[in-house]
Amino acid sequence: MSDFLLKLNAVKKRFILGKQPVPVLKGVSLHVAQGETVAIMGPSGAGKTTLLNIAGGLMCPSSGTVEISGRDLFAQNDEGLSRSRSQYVGFVFQMHHLLPEFTAEENVMLPAMIQGAVRRLACERARSLLAEVGLEKRFKHRPGELSGGEQQRVAIARALMNEPRLLLADEPTGDLDGVTAKGIHELFQRFNETHGQTIIIVTHNPELGRIANRVITIEDGLIVGEKGVAKDAVSDLPSGGSERISD
Ligand SMILES: Nc1ncnc2c1ncn2[C@@H]1O[C@H](COP(=O)(O)OP(=O)(O)OP(=O)(O)O)[C@@H](O)[C@H]1O
Ligand SMILES: [Mg+2]
Repeated sequence: MSDFLLKLNAVKKRFILGKQPVPVLKGVSLHVAQGETVAIMGPSGAGKTTLLNIAGGLMCPSSGTVEISGRDLFAQNDEGLSRSRSQYVGFVFQMHHLLPEFTAEENVMLPAMIQGAVRRLACERARSLLAEVGLEKRFKHRPGELSGGEQQRVAIARALMNEPRLLLADEPTGDLDGVTAKGIHELFQRFNETHGQTIIIVTHNPELGRIANRVITIEDGLIVGEKGVAKDAVSDLPSGGSERISD
């Protein structure tokens, strides 16, 4: 029996623009196991961000269901949905959305403070996460005093603050040079390998495929390709048997 962390079942999304329906997702089913890294690729406008927003409960589907840890996300009321979101999901947005007037440390602490955490404990965890992403000397810097790659690392630390089961990242290396992007890829890989972090990354960067168990391609609102091995399908292999995609 497989216990998927995330299940998207026949998810459709259409926007209404004026009076015109705009079909964006046309029936997407995707099951992601605990500890899996999935990359989502596809041309601009294919529906990748829309899919990620729906998977994380930020946007509701027009039809279909989303389950996280067996819970039907959108069957809950608003309060339940926002609790599930902050409990289970961490987001890294393409535009990192750091608060400019807050320091790196305060930005990372924020999700915990919103949940009512004790400030001292939140601060300790924020510092340990910032150290883990290589920013132990940048606690007191504001976003404007950090490089693009550093800002993105703060955003990753912030997304991990509440220990989400599922980390969703939307083109986290879109604006970064190759070397900096590689550092971010390695960071995701490390969080996956050492913490068993489940990660879904939307990317245009084929290099990111190398750290993923699976690469899903979306075109025009549908999954048109899948490369790699779904984690549940390899879980019977000896440890270390979960193959990474090398090309
Ligand atoms: N609120 C909206 N109303 C109408 N159409 C929308 C809305 N949001 C997105 N769309 C349309 O949905 C399609 C998919 O958008 P989405 O942002 O998911 O694409 P994407 O695959 O993430 O593209 P990119 O790689 O450029 O980020 C686009 O054609 C977009 O114009
Ligand atoms: Mg997008």
